[in-house]
Amino acid sequence: MKKYLKHNEWCVIEEGFDPVNHQASESIFSIGNGKMGQRANFEEKYSGPSLQGSYIAGVYYPDKTRVGWWKNGYPEYFAKVLNSPNWIGIDVTIDGTELDLYKCKVENFVRTLNMQEGYLEREFDAILDDDRKIHVKAKRFVSMADTENGAIRYEVTPVNFNGVISFTPYIDGDIENEDANYDEKFWNVLDVNATEGGAYLESQTKKSDFRVGIAIKYHAMIDNKQVQAKPEVIQLSKWVGNKVEFEIKAGQTACLEKFVGVTSSLNYATNELKSNAEELVSYACHKGFDKLFADHRQKWAKKWVLSDIKIKGDVAAQQGIRFNIFHLNQTYTGEDERLNVGPKGFTGEKYGGTTYWDTEAYCVPFFLMTAPPAVTRQLLIYRYKHLPKAIENAEKLGFKDGAALYPMVTANGEECHNEWEITFEEIHRNGAIAFAIHNYIRHTGDKKYLAEYGIEVLVGISRFWSQRITFSQAKNKYVMLGVTGPNEYENNINNNWYTNKMATWSLKYTMESLDYVKENSPVRYNELVEKLRFDGDSETQRWKDIVANMHFPYNEDLQVHMQQDGFMDKEQIMADDLDPGQRPINQHWSWDRILRSNFIKQADTLQGMYVFEEEFSKEEIERNFNFYEPRTVHESSLSPCVHSVIATKIGRVEKAYEMYLRTSRLDLDDYNAEVHEGLHITSMAGTWMSIVEGFGGKRAYDEKLYLNPDIPARWEEYAFRITFKGNDLEVRVSVADVEIISHAEKTIELYVYDKLVTVEPNRSQTISR
Ligand code: BGC
Repeated sequence: MKKYLKHNEWCVIEEGFDPVNHQASESIFSIGNGKMGQRANFEEKYSGPSLQGSYIAGVYYPDKTRVGWWKNGYPEYFAKVLNSPNWIGIDVTIDGTELDLYKCKVENFVRTLNMQEGYLEREFDAILDDDRKIHVKAKRFVSMADTENGAIRYEVTPVNFNGVISFTPYIDGDIENEDANYDEKFWNVLDVNATEGGAYLESQTKKSDFRVGIAIKYHAMIDNKQVQAKPEVIQLSKWVGNKVEFEIKAGQTACLEKFVGVTSSLNYATNELKSNAEELVSYACHKGFDKLFADHRQKWAKKWVLSDIKIKGDVAAQQGIRFNIFHLNQTYTGEDERLNVGPKGFTGEKYGGTTYWDTEAYCVPFFLMTAPPAVTRQLLIYRYKHLPKAIENAEKLGFKDGAALYPMVTANGEECHNEWEITFEEIHRNGAIAFAIHNYIRHTGDKKYLAEYGIEVLVGISRFWSQRITFSQAKNKYVMLGVTGPNEYENNINNNWYTNKMATWSLKYTMESLDYVKENSPVRYNELVEKLRFDGDSETQRWKDIVANMHFPYNEDLQVHMQQDGFMDKEQIMADDLDPGQRPINQHWSWDRILRSNFIKQADTLQGMYVFEEEFSKEEIERNFNFYEPRTVHESSLSPCVHSVIATKIGRVEKAYEMYLRTSRLDLDDYNAEVHEGLHITSMAGTWMSIVEGFGGKRAYDEKLYLNPDIPARWEEYAFRITFKGNDLEVRVSVADVEIISHAEKTIELYVYDKLVTVEPNRSQTISR
């Protein structure tokens, strides 16, 4: 664990510069706006260890798979999240000496991520070799309002000398990904053009042919007065910029305001990238830094109204949840159905691809309740649009007749991950995608979605399950062989309880949904039957048979659902008995040793109990929790949150609180020693779940809303806001009572501690705890 950041309710603050923490901070202080974003790299040159990262949503590179023994069905490429041309750079010199914080003395360094207003700021004094001292302040944001613009204000004040300061704002197209499989660069630079006062660079990704156009402009000022210094125009083959120089006196401030306009072929014709990028940057430059920022700040204020969680009496917990909500909101805004929520968002390269099961299992619950329904709908439509590819993916593995296997990792619908036994066999993802449709409908009431889009996805998924399952004569039951469950520390196992559960649930839900559409939209039903060549009775007959006769491993002695058939053959050791020096085990043990051990990476059987909680008694959940949690090493960021929700359910609020801190401060305190690679964006939605579904006890059954709030001992009060069926509610929980404040336009009914509560528009109701 690393604990170098200050606790603060709205900001993340790093005081004092230590290069050892720099790469972690580059991840933590990342900024984005759903369309683009970047790590908190310094604007000026930095020669110390750093991971340069600038990303544009939807732009990826199909990096050829690297494996020793190629087997049929292997995905051909691993889609890399692309490090894109870098527009933040501003080289700075002081009387010819380059400013580089790795090489000079740094004092009074403060780096701040202001989450309320969405910007990154740095302030410090740099002392050069000959004792000349400068004070620097740099502020940067990527606009939430003008989503193709970003801006930087960079100020330098010589403290004890008069001298010459130069700024060189530039765009660098000579970019690489650290995780390239064959060490190649993924971009060709197509166009460079530097003029006095601005520059343009256009790049193209190799193979996938995405084009990106970046235009920059700037204002230079001394003590707030614009200066017309004649720049040196620099145009290299992959790099463009301008150098401006000023003579200034001690105490005066030289300032450069740099603006960017970013276009990509996702949104513009390739021959219009340049004109649009230039128009965008001129617009930003004309609008000016302050106005651009004011509009951006206003957008953030709106986002916070719907999604903020307030905690009284625990600043670390407050900062933790806001950090998570902030990053989720800047990673995905729901404006484009082609985009999704990558596990690292705009904060790093690791993981590749942009979409995992994380989206449906973790992010959907968050966006469903903190944003208008259209935002989650986009995530569902994303999968709907990928259905033909999911059918192709299944065909590549030998499935037929419209069976769909969604990819575990994807950028465009194709499977693009090359860890066969681990990710590829995690077919449980199909279940999460089916469940997300149900989850969306029960929270929004938008049942029309089934006839419009949902059924097609559900039928494809059910066909896959029905072909993937085999009948075991020995067991006289249906079984599911050769899978990996959510616990990636066991591969290629038989009858993973969670996967079997997801499969049978998907089949049941598909049949119910078909009945619903048949009854309510008969014309559309007939169209669908034809389009899908759906052979009603014979297909559903098999589905019913599977549902009725599926094998679920169970241990009678322990009265516990078994994670898989062979789980009890393993030596049973508790995680607390592990030598702390051996943890995390994935950084100390061989894969062989991990696979043979009983250690669980993340919730697996408990993940199923979380999803289908209403099917189990509290005692049953408790028994399973008490069995599995001690064997769990929580080495996936997705693990503590699910445990936290269940722990509250079974009345172990302090355990839930411990798990909450672990999930909410996972990156801030670097629990898994890997934050330098990027943040765990998707698990951040799990943090939100720990509060709203965990402590808040929010559930939605039969399209009704339930709350069952508890409160950790350290908290005086907490409050969250949720959107349910288009109605907006605020829930405040204190030790004494629960207050429901309605911001809805109509009367709301919900159940608090299982009692019906009615709240009129703009009124509140208080219920004693
Ligand atoms: C987890 C997976 C998850 C992936 C991306 C892995 O460490 O085990 O469940 O999908 O990370 O977040």
